[in-house]
Amino acid sequence: MKLHQLLIGLITAGLVLTVQAKDQSIVIKFSHIAAEDTPKGKAAEHFKKLAEKYTKNKVKIEVYPNSKLFKDKDEMDALQKGEVQMLAPSLSKLAPLGIKEFEIFDLPYIFNDYKDLHGITRGQVGKDLFSRLEVKGILGLAYWDNAFKQMSANKPLRKPDDFKGLKMRIQASKIIDLQMQSVGATPVVTSFAEVHKALQTGTVDGTENSISNFYTQNIHEVQKFLTLTNHGYLGYAVIANKKFWDKLPDDIKDDLTKAMAEATDYANEIAKKENDEALAQVKASGKTEVIELTPEEKAALKKAMLTSHDKQDIIPKAFLRWWLCGDKC
Ligand code: LMR
Repeated sequence: MKLHQLLIGLITAGLVLTVQAKDQSIVIKFSHIAAEDTPKGKAAEHFKKLAEKYTKNKVKIEVYPNSKLFKDKDEMDALQKGEVQMLAPSLSKLAPLGIKEFEIFDLPYIFNDYKDLHGITRGQVGKDLFSRLEVKGILGLAYWDNAFKQMSANKPLRKPDDFKGLKMRIQASKIIDLQMQSVGATPVVTSFAEVHKALQTGTVDGTENSISNFYTQNIHEVQKFLTLTNHGYLGYAVIANKKFWDKLPDDIKDDLTKAMAEATDYANEIAKKENDEALAQVKASGKTEVIELTPEEKAALKKAMLTSHDKQDIIPKAFLRWWLCGDKC
């Protein structure tokens, strides 16, 4: 055999090996709509690092942040069609799939604190909710926190009357729609990727979100006031295409499950810190005035927004009353 034939033979064998090695690595496209520098963005990267390490690179996680691949609703369609394998949509994005029980998370003032919230997400209710996704071809892997939400506008929002007539951006959630109506605002459903522009052009006047989203989407550049209302919760369901997951070899599933458990601890550990830091950055920008409510202002806002609980028809009202005040009401 001549030298060039030998070389061609070796190169071809090398190519075949590379192709095989490539073919053998399982690619998971993980798409999300938040910035990289947010609790979700950082947790997705952390999951990638752990998943690739535990599977010894048999799995490659491609993270696509910031609506790079798909926007809000499109990403859900893409997951169900298998165009991407993993997402971490906010819990508010799950009810439009037809699993309306997920709207419980959108009810204003439903969770007093993280202890209340984690009682749900880490308990049987969280598991039951995830099991309802399966008929939609979706597997629930984990709940990740972002934060409690705040309200912003170009005018100070201190009392229910201040919201009257304002067009407020919301996610596509019937409960958040009712919540905005309860203070006389007009809810406008807008994709997350479009919020900055919608505020800039005046398509909407204000919005609600976690401070980390507020800051990383540069909303502070187009909103003069941010009121610390903590009126509702923003968290995520990390989900996978069920058919894809079911076909994975058992050892890979185990490795990914372990990586997800650790990434979830990480996500929930950093969420508060990330939001505290974002608040400091908003203040330091000098562009948005941060408003702290008095106890009386908080109580008045809560009273107005709680009327949305009576108008919703998803969760029995007696249960909601019990949840909010036990034997006291
Ligand atoms: C939103 O649409 O406001 C949120 O779902 C964004 C996010 O953090 O995913």
